[in-house]
Amino acid sequence: MESMGYPKETNTFDPTPLLSARVQRYAPGAIRRLLPLENLPGMISLVAGKPNPEVFPFDKITLSLKGANEEIVLTRENGLIDGLQYGLPGGNPGLVKWFEEFQSELHGINRSQGWTCCIGNGSQELLHRVFQVLTDPCDSVLIETPAYPGVVGFLQAEDYKLVDAKTDRHGIDPSELEKTLSRWPESQPRPKLLYTIPTGSNPTGRSCPEWRKIGILRLAKRFNFMILEDDAYYFLNYEEKSNGKSRSYLALEQEVNGETGRVIRFDSLSKIVSAGMRLGVLTGPLPIVKNVIKLTENINLQPSSTTQILALSLFQHWGRTGFLEHCARASEFYRRKRDVFAAAAEVHLKYRATWDVPSAGLFFWFTLRLPPGEDTFELLSKKGMESGLLAIPGVAFMPDNRKTYQLRASFSLIAEEQAYEACRRMAQLVDDAWGDWVREFVPGRIEKNGLSNPTTTVSA
Ligand SMILES: Cc1ncc(COP(=O)(O)O)c(C=O)c1O
Repeated sequence: MESMGYPKETNTFDPTPLLSARVQRYAPGAIRRLLPLENLPGMISLVAGKPNPEVFPFDKITLSLKGANEEIVLTRENGLIDGLQYGLPGGNPGLVKWFEEFQSELHGINRSQGWTCCIGNGSQELLHRVFQVLTDPCDSVLIETPAYPGVVGFLQAEDYKLVDAKTDRHGIDPSELEKTLSRWPESQPRPKLLYTIPTGSNPTGRSCPEWRKIGILRLAKRFNFMILEDDAYYFLNYEEKSNGKSRSYLALEQEVNGETGRVIRFDSLSKIVSAGMRLGVLTGPLPIVKNVIKLTENINLQPSSTTQILALSLFQHWGRTGFLEHCARASEFYRRKRDVFAAAAEVHLKYRATWDVPSAGLFFWFTLRLPPGEDTFELLSKKGMESGLLAIPGVAFMPDNRKTYQLRASFSLIAEEQAYEACRRMAQLVDDAWGDWVREFVPGRIEKNGLSNPTTTVSA
């Protein structure tokens, strides 16, 4: 694997030695690597099996934007053909450039630091790709726990050794991580990456403050691992600016470590533009992005040209400021929903569960005060279903599948009345669980249905 030529003046870590054996078995796609050359002046290309757009039945695409009497019209002269035709595996060059400029400005990074962007079918695809690029089956992986099941699922299926990066209400605890890494057995290969969701974590809703990110960045340099910064909820952050919204790992790396190249960042358009468009953005060191693209050209060719051209037209229409204004409106919308859900939880769950009001993202993470030995999986799949309450049991977020007293409740689609009713049903589940427990273990102590406010605390 050749090393990328970095500009001399920047101090950039080269992750090439960390690449997996698996990705090195792939060769660049024979056709797609020639596609950029088609645009050279005077070139006649007989390369790609591209269909002739003459046969496509579409004449134009019109986008009408909510709330403003504005339309974006894509015609043959301005982008329609690009949107209907095969494109490049790393994404529409215009959209890639838009995000490179955007990331540069938002995170205060510049292109001489050896990074680039590419587009994928949602950040989910890009996450999977990066794991493929950096790890082989059975490798050890550091994973923030509890963690997003979309990642836990494919890691479990490939027999990785999943090593908990322990979290508390501020996300990953760097001192715990340091203990894990400094006690790592000499005989075993060290983990090459840490997966984390630093803003409004899925499932906990918690965010990692800057001082912790600094500690974790230092550990990455000391113990030679990459940080996979999955920031799907970055734009849904309810913290006041003055309260210190935390800068990203990408933004902090140079300042903390005096070098760049260990952070791979994932952004998602799902929560702010459209989940169905399936668009995510990877920002990371050139060797990583180049290898992700190599996998894409070998596996599914490219992300959708059509949704990329829609996104690009929208972002060009809005500009970076308009995009951020839209994100701020989306964030305000969800902040109000969060507040309603928080009020409902306060009314019904006060003595029956513990939780933190999420400072970002779309989830409440409840620890139910259940009788010893109970588990939210059992509870939700039986009594929860009977009472008309669906939520995700904590076990789904645990890499080791351990039983938990926890559940994730999403408030994104819930109207005010439903929020109160959902919390009331959750409270009833807790009360009934204690009723059943007392009936089983303490016969004769209570009347039927007599226990409504258990105060026993069980550890999670
Ligand atoms: C933490 C996290 N990462 C990634 C994703 C996947 O997002 P996308 O729709 O961009 O694939 C999700 C989706 O819910 C998520 O919660």
